Amino acid sequence: MYLVVVLFVLGSAAGFQGFDRLDLPENHIPYYFNSFPEVADKCRQEDGCPYKDKLDTKKCWGYEFGCKPADSFARPVCLGEHKGWVKSKEDQINTFYSQGDFGYIRDQLHEMSVMCEPYFKEDSSLECSKHLRFCRGRNIMINFTSLVNRKERLRYKMDVLSEGDIGGHCRLHKQRLMDECDHISPLQSWGPELRLFSERDKVPIGNDCDVIVEKPTYLMKIDASVNMYHHFCDFFNLYASQHVNSSHPDTFSKDVHMLIWESYTYYSSFTSAWDVFTKHKLWDLNTFKGKVVCFKNLVFPLLPRMIFGLYYNTPLIWGCQKSGLFSAFSQHLLHRLKIPRHKVEDKRLRVTLLSRDTTYRNILNEKELIASLKNNTNYHVRRVVYNRNMPFTKQLEITHNSDIFIGIHGAGLTHLLFLPDWAVIFELYNCEDEGCYYDLARLRGVKYMTWKDKTKLKQQDKGHHPDGGAHAKFTNYEFDVKEFLRLVGLAAKYIKEQESYKEFLRADLHDEL
Ligand SMILES: *[C@@H]1O[C@H](CO)[C@@H](O)[C@H](O)[C@H]1NC(C)=O
Ligand SMILES: *[C@@H]1O[C@H](CO)[C@@H](O)[C@H](O)[C@H]1NC(C)=O
Ligand SMILES: *[C@@H]1O[C@H](CO)[C@@H](O)[C@H](O)[C@H]1NC(C)=O
Repeated sequence: MYLVVVLFVLGSAAGFQGFDRLDLPENHIPYYFNSFPEVADKCRQEDGCPYKDKLDTKKCWGYEFGCKPADSFARPVCLGEHKGWVKSKEDQINTFYSQGDFGYIRDQLHEMSVMCEPYFKEDSSLECSKHLRFCRGRNIMINFTSLVNRKERLRYKMDVLSEGDIGGHCRLHKQRLMDECDHISPLQSWGPELRLFSERDKVPIGNDCDVIVEKPTYLMKIDASVNMYHHFCDFFNLYASQHVNSSHPDTFSKDVHMLIWESYTYYSSFTSAWDVFTKHKLWDLNTFKGKVVCFKNLVFPLLPRMIFGLYYNTPLIWGCQKSGLFSAFSQHLLHRLKIPRHKVEDKRLRVTLLSRDTTYRNILNEKELIASLKNNTNYHVRRVVYNRNMPFTKQLEITHNSDIFIGIHGAGLTHLLFLPDWAVIFELYNCEDEGCYYDLARLRGVKYMTWKDKTKLKQQDKGHHPDGGAHAKFTNYEFDVKEFLRLVGLAAKYIKEQESYKEFLRADLHDEL
C-alpha cells in the first residue's frame, strides 16, 4: 500500500526558460473575486461563504501575476529559527511560501510549458509543469480498447496505456516532453502516461472517438483511499490543481468529471469528500474499457507522492507555520460540505479525545484520562470513535467544533486540518514518528503538542510489526494522569491567549473578555 519515495536534489532549472506559453502569465487574472463579478455575487449571497470579507478588497490568492504579498490571502508566520537553511527572515518566509503555500502554485504556473502545440484554435493541445507534475490538455484522445484484455485489476499501474493510446492533433515537442519524464513512478508524475503521447493525423473529435466527453475531466491517480492521511493528500492536491488552473470563473465548478485511474471499484469511508469537487458519479477505468474516448478538456492534477510535493514527506523549513493554501483548503471543504459551526453557551473549552477501535495504539487508561478531564469544570469533554458508524461529515462537525483535539498517532489526526484556527492538536504520543502530524499542523497553522517525558508513559510491550520485530506503532500505551492534565492545561492556556479565540467567544457570548 505504501510506495517508497526517494528524495533527491533536483538539478538546476536553467535551460527551461523561454518556452512559448499558451496563456500564462499575461492573461492570468490577478484578483479572483474582482475579476469575476458573478463569482463575487454568488459568494455574497451564499450562507457561510468563507471569502465574504475579501469581496470588496484587492485580495488575491498570492500566485497570480501581479499579486503583491500585502494583498495576498495570507502570509506564513515565521517566529522561530530557520536552523541554517537560508540567509534572512525574508528568505525563510519565501522558502516556506514556495514549499507549502500558494508559492507552490505560483511555481507550477511559472514552470508551465507547451508540450503539444495546436495548429489552430480548435486543435488539440497539451501543457505541463516541470517533471509532468501537472498537465492540462484539450481535445485529447485516450484509447482504452486494450483494457478488455487485461485480466488483473489495475491500481498503481504504469502500463495502463501503451504507445499511441493517448494523443492529439498538435505539434508534439517530443524531446521537451521526454526531458520531463524523469519522475517515473505511479504517483509521482504523469510521465508514465504522457511519455506515450503521440501526434494524430486528424483532430480526434469527429474522427476517432466512440465517446466524447464535453465536460472538464480530472484524471485521478489516487493513493490509499482507506486512510485519511493519504486520501486527503489526494483531495488536497486536487484542490491545489484547481488553483493551478484558475484562470476562469468556473475554476471550482462541480460540473466536472473525475476518472479514477484504477479498475477497482472505488470504496472509502471518506467518499463524501468528493461532493466538494463534483456533482457527478465517479468514473473509473471500467467505465471506458474497450472504448476510444475523446476529452475536450482534460486535467492531470498534482499527485499525492510527488518528490517535494504536498503534503506527504514534504521537506519544510523550520520555524514557520500557517499556509494560506491549507487554510483555504480547509475552509473550502467545510463550506462545500456545509459543516456547521456551533454557537457556544459558556466559556468551557471543548476537548475532544479521539479513541481508536483498533488492535494497536490504544490508550490503556483512557477511562481514567477522561474522568480526570471531566473533573475539571473548565472543560467540556467528549470522547469520540471515528469509524464507519459515524458519517464522515458528522466527524468533521465534531472536529470543527473542538478547541483541543487529543489522539494518539494515527491517520485520524488528519482531522487537525479542520480544526478552528486557534485550536491545539495534542498528539498524545507520536510513536517515534515525529514529523508527520507536527508538519501537517504547522502547514494548517494550528498549535501542535505531544508527550515529551517518556518516563511518564508506559509502553505495553515492545510492539509487534507485521513483518516481525519490535515497533512503537504496534502496541498500546498508558499515560501518567498528572502529566496529561498538565499538558492539556498548557493547551488551554495557549487557546485563551489567541485573539481569534477571544473574538469567537465575544461573538457568541456578547460579553467583555
Ligand atoms: C485503439 O486501439 C486498438 C487496439 O489496441 C486499435 O486496434 C485501434 O485502431 C485503436 N483506435 C484508434 C482510434 O487509434
Ligand atoms: C483549465 O484551464 C484552461 C485554460 O484556461 C481552461 O480552458 C479549462 O477550462 C480549465 N479546466 C478546468 C477543468 O477548469
Ligand atoms: C477531581 O478533582 C479533585 C480536586 O481538584 C481531586 O481531589 C480529585 O482527586 C479529582 N478526581 C479525579 C477523578 O481526578
